[in-house]
Amino acid sequence: MNIAVFASGRGSNFSAIAEAVKKGKIKARLSLLVSDNPSAPVIAKALRAQVKAVIIAREDYSNRADFENEIIRLLKKEKIGLVVLAGFMRVLSPDFVGNFKNKIINIHPALLPAFKGAHAIRDAFFYGAKVTGVTVHFVDEKMDHGPIILQQALVIKASDTLKSLEEKIHKIEHLLYPEAINIFVKGKLGIKGRRVRISSRKALS
Ligand code: GAR
Repeated sequence: MNIAVFASGRGSNFSAIAEAVKKGKIKARLSLLVSDNPSAPVIAKALRAQVKAVIIAREDYSNRADFENEIIRLLKKEKIGLVVLAGFMRVLSPDFVGNFKNKIINIHPALLPAFKGAHAIRDAFFYGAKVTGVTVHFVDEKMDHGPIILQQALVIKASDTLKSLEEKIHKIEHLLYPEAINIFVKGKLGIKGRRVRISSRKALS
């Protein structure tokens, strides 16, 4: 199966996924990085990992449909079977999602449905939450909303700072996302309404 990662920024999840593919922990081909941000550090990471990187910036298109159609065209050309959003800070239209129904997944640095949005770690920390975590879910037409594939909880300790919490969350992400991708690639999950059933879950070793 061919995988495309979409990312807008730093790309630490991209690197974790690329590493898992390289080590054979995910049995798929990482064919493509798509970024909407020409200055995103993830682009250099893709080039270093010898993954084709394509920049498709929203500003270069007069409307969202043209922008998304360009991405869809590219995904079809590369025969992509799974789209992995990893810090892609853009909401995809219902049309786009419909084109890749149940083939787009996202990672979110909180336990959804809590703390949706772009600043989930910070929001959970300053809210005073005692527990937060990471969610991997299918993407539907609403933001941070589709059926949940995996979640991992994390206790926020009194001694945690925002920085230490961010580090712990990212560490979890870098293990949980490759695991979820591997489950998808192996066809070990089924969706019934909002419920995702995983028939076999083995941690990546
Ligand atoms: C990750 O923490 C991811 O969960 C978050 O963006 C970060 C990207 O980091 N995504 C969201 O907040 C989506 N709502 P990275 O560029 O280092 O992978």
